[in-house]
Amino acid sequence: MKRAEIAPDRLTCLPVHDWQKRWFLLASGDFASGAFNFMTVAWGGLGCMWERPLAMIVVRPTRYTHEFLEKYPDFTLCQFSKEYSKKLAWCGANSGRQVDKVKHTGLTPEAGRLVAAPVFAEAELVLECRKIYWSDFDPAHFVAGYIEGNYPDKDYHRVYFGEILAAAGTAAYRG
Ligand SMILES: Cc1cc2nc3c(=O)[nH]c(=O)nc-3n(C[C@H](O)[C@H](O)[C@H](O)COP(=O)(O)O)c2cc1C
Repeated sequence: MKRAEIAPDRLTCLPVHDWQKRWFLLASGDFASGAFNFMTVAWGGLGCMWERPLAMIVVRPTRYTHEFLEKYPDFTLCQFSKEYSKKLAWCGANSGRQVDKVKHTGLTPEAGRLVAAPVFAEAELVLECRKIYWSDFDPAHFVAGYIEGNYPDKDYHRVYFGEILAAAGTAAYRG
């Protein structure tokens, strides 16, 4: 995919739609050594925190990817065109603990520019992020009644803030 660097503050996207309907592939680990994993995410956000461009992700501790997020300093978020939605759905229903996701999906991980985690050659948008904060959701702080219903197993998400160090995308993301 032909991508060009984008200053994070010039990134053009539909922030709610892109999370809710297009999803991202979240990857963490070390591309160089082959120790990495990735999974689909649909809950999160893009914004600004402590004067830095921010990507927020939430990951349940039960995910294999959670182990990599805990061990490694960074993560990437990649967005794909519609034709990849079946592959993303599959990555959101299968765990790297049991299956080789690269082999199964045929996606091509490649080195990021600034982070250890891989990005994907097929992605239309790539965000390279460095972890700057994490916290575990505290159910005592759930204000809306519908939230707890997402956690029948009490596996409350860990939220991670990532500073977006680099962004690259196709022309559509460059306004
Ligand atoms: C559309 C979609 C969105 C998802 N969003 C999240 C998310 O934001 N956070 C999360 O912890 N799991 C999310 N999941 C579930 C994980 O992607 C799924 O459990 C995956 O198999 C975990 O893979 P892993 O064990 O290899 O890390 C989502 C699944 C789908 C299908």
